Parts: sequence; structure tokens; C-alpha cells
Amino acid sequence: MNPTKLSTLSWGEEISFPSSRKGDMYSHVVGARYPCRSVAYVPRLILSELAASNPKEMNVLDPFMGSGTTALEANLRAFNAYGLEVDPYARLIGSASVQKFSKVDLSKLEEFGSTLESKFRSTRSLKSMIPDILNIDHWFPEKNIDDLVRLKRVISDFLETTPKANNFLYAAFADIIRAVSYAERQSLKPYVSTRFRKQPAEVLPSFQKCLKKYLDGAQAVALLKDYGTGQIKWIDGDATQFKLDAKIDVAITSPPYINAMDYVRCIKLESSWVGTGSSDIFSEVRSSQVGEAARSKKREISADVLEIIGPDFLRIQEVDKERSKTVAAYFQDMKSNLNCVYKALKANAQYHIIVGDSVVRDVEVATHHHIGKIAEKIGFEWQGYFKYAIKDHRTSLPRNGRGGKIEVEHVISLRKP
Ligand SMILES: C[S@@+](CC[C@H](N)C(=O)[O-])C[C@H]1O[C@@H](n2cnc3c(N)ncnc32)[C@H](O)[C@@H]1O
Repeated sequence: MNPTKLSTLSWGEEISFPSSRKGDMYSHVVGARYPCRSVAYVPRLILSELAASNPKEMNVLDPFMGSGTTALEANLRAFNAYGLEVDPYARLIGSASVQKFSKVDLSKLEEFGSTLESKFRSTRSLKSMIPDILNIDHWFPEKNIDDLVRLKRVISDFLETTPKANNFLYAAFADIIRAVSYAERQSLKPYVSTRFRKQPAEVLPSFQKCLKKYLDGAQAVALLKDYGTGQIKWIDGDATQFKLDAKIDVAITSPPYINAMDYVRCIKLESSWVGTGSSDIFSEVRSSQVGEAARSKKREISADVLEIIGPDFLRIQEVDKERSKTVAAYFQDMKSNLNCVYKALKANAQYHIIVGDSVVRDVEVATHHHIGKIAEKIGFEWQGYFKYAIKDHRTSLPRNGRGGKIEVEHVISLRKP
């Protein structure tokens, strides 16, 4: 079933969506390679239902914004998008994905596309612009390193006259990095197979193709009459520590899974090339990531969280003390997030959380259930719950140490009374 109404779903119902990105329009094409991107259908389902019953302006928050899926769905309904995100690379992609260009800017971008080849041919590489990537020759052929620098120089010259296109063009530039490297396309974490050496794609044609796709998306957005501000209002702080006083009409998010994904590692090549990443930034971002082992050192676990996760926590602790601390810190961080979102919501507003359960040291942790229970302690009413099968495994995660994939995502719907 492909549902159109959230309110008609029964508790725990498993629904299905078409394969996640096929046929997606507008700027959903921007940053489509961002790791663990959410399916757009969930925010679409929630926001279109709200738009139908409540057509006035609404403020939509995603505290774990990633590449901006929720924000784009909000903008498509002329709602305001608010967000938090600790990774500057994701903020660049998210900002690019919601942007609306004027006709004038779009024609400048088109002209940029049509004159790109001649500018590229007359631009030389510069050693000083090669990013600081450890063993860069392991990742890229020398020719592609030079060509990426040449392309970056052409982009930055163009941005001097059209600075508004900064995020958009660097998102397209980031999009081709994996293809022009030796790293496998299919794996989320970059790695080079020594058995089957990949033939990297060429830089210029890859970028031209990507730019065309992005421009098609931007043109579709430019034609829309009712569109939001074309921006994400980025909130200071992080998802576990921020302040927004009762401003938000609905929050929708997909937090990281427990200790399942090293986002920083996944995007390190792209982020280094576009200039949002360096080893210092990577270690700072990593230590802010909810679900990362590094967080557990700083967290005191409260009694109510321990009571809810207790049996799982003890079973993991028996076999792996460190991992049990990471798991506990994850739920403590989610408690802080729930508290912040609770305060940010207006009365009666909802918070929808999309999350997969995890298997940690052979213990099945019902993440969605525990988050729902913690939310109830804070004062939320747990109003609805459905799940769906993940069809597009680019968005899914390898299960830590167990092979296989997380096949189902859960959506819990909470209401602030
Ligand atoms: C599952 S992804 C979100 C994907 C997003 N819905 C999309 O479609 O791209 C989780 C995101 O949370 C971010 N994140 C992790 N810890 C955070 C924190 N403490 N505050 C804000 N963002 C955080 C990660 O960098 C990552 O981009």
C-alpha cells in the first residue's frame, strides 16, 4: 500500500513506499549521495496532511538535518524550515538542496554550464589548491587530482560574480568526487578494492552531467509559485543542546542509529575537496555525533534512561562494557534532544522520529521503542507508530559486526499536549 493519510494508519502497521529516490523531483537530486539520506516520503506524508488541514504558514524543524530532505519538503509547501546539523558539509548540501534561484541567476548558471569546457581547458592546476587528503594518490589518479583543481578554480572564478551559487555548485562538485576516484561507488565508506581496481570517471564530463541534472531540479523549483524562503534557518547549538521557544509547528527527523555509521569517514573525500573538512574539523564533528563511541565518555546516564534501556544495557555490558556505554550515551543524547524539541514545539505540535533498530553485540535493541518511552517520561504523548521496509539500500546501514542490513525503519509520532 502506498498511503496518503497518516491518520488512517493503525498502530505498528507496515506500509510501503516506492523505491526511495526514483522519480524524485526538484532539488531532491542535490546531494543524493549523502550517507543515510532519509526517504522523502515520510516528511512528504506528514507535511502534506498538515498542509491540507492547516494551510497557513508553519515552522518545520529537523534537528538532525543531514542533507535537507525535511527542509525541501517544507519549502515545497511554503513552510519555514529550521534545522540543526553538526557537520558543515551536510549544512552546505542541505542549504543547496532548498535553494530557489531567480530566472537571472538560472540563466547565469546555464551560461556557466555552456562555457565551462573552454574555461576548463584554459585553466591550469595549482599544487597549493590540492586538499590535504592523506595518501591522496591512493584515492585519485594524478590526472583527476589536477582536473579537480582546475574545475574548482573555474567554479571559484564564476562565484566571484555569482556568489549565491556557492552551495549549489560545490554540492555538484562534491557529487562527482566518488565517481572520479578509485573508491567503490556502492560502499558508504570510501574504500579502494585491490582485487577489482575501478576505472575512475573523467572529471569534466562527470561534472557537466551532474550540473545538468542539478539545473533541471533547480528549474523545476524556479517554476513553483508557492515555495518557502529557499533557506534553512540554521539554529545555533546541536541537536542535544539548543533553544527555540515554542516556535515550531511540527518536527520531523531521522537521528543517527546507534554507533552504526561514521558519517565523517563516509564523506571525508567530498568534504576535503569542497573545503568544509580538515582533520581538525573532522575530529570535532565526530565528537559531536550522537551515537559515536566518543560521546560516551562525557555522558552521565540518568536513572529514567537506565530503567528503560536496562535489560538491553545489561546484556551488552556482559560482553562489551565500552559498547554498553555507547548505547546508554545514545539514549541519554536522545533524551536531551527530546527535551529541547519539547520546549521548541507549540502546544499540540508533533515530533515524528524515523529510526532503525540496531543489533549490538547480538542484542536486539528496540531503539524506536526506547525513544518512545523516554519521550513519554518527558511529557510527550506517543500517538502513532508505523514502519516501512527500506527498498533502496544506499540509505541503509550494514549491521555492526553481523553482516546483513537494517531492513525496516520505524516512525514514531509524538505529541506535546
Ligand atoms: C540519518 S542522518 C539524517 C539524514 C537526513 N534526514 C537526510 O535526509 O539527509 C543524521 C544526521 O545527524 C547529524 N548529527 C549527528 N549528531 C548530531 C548532533 N549532535 N546535532 C546535530 N546533528 C547531528 C549527522 O551529521 C547526520 O547528518
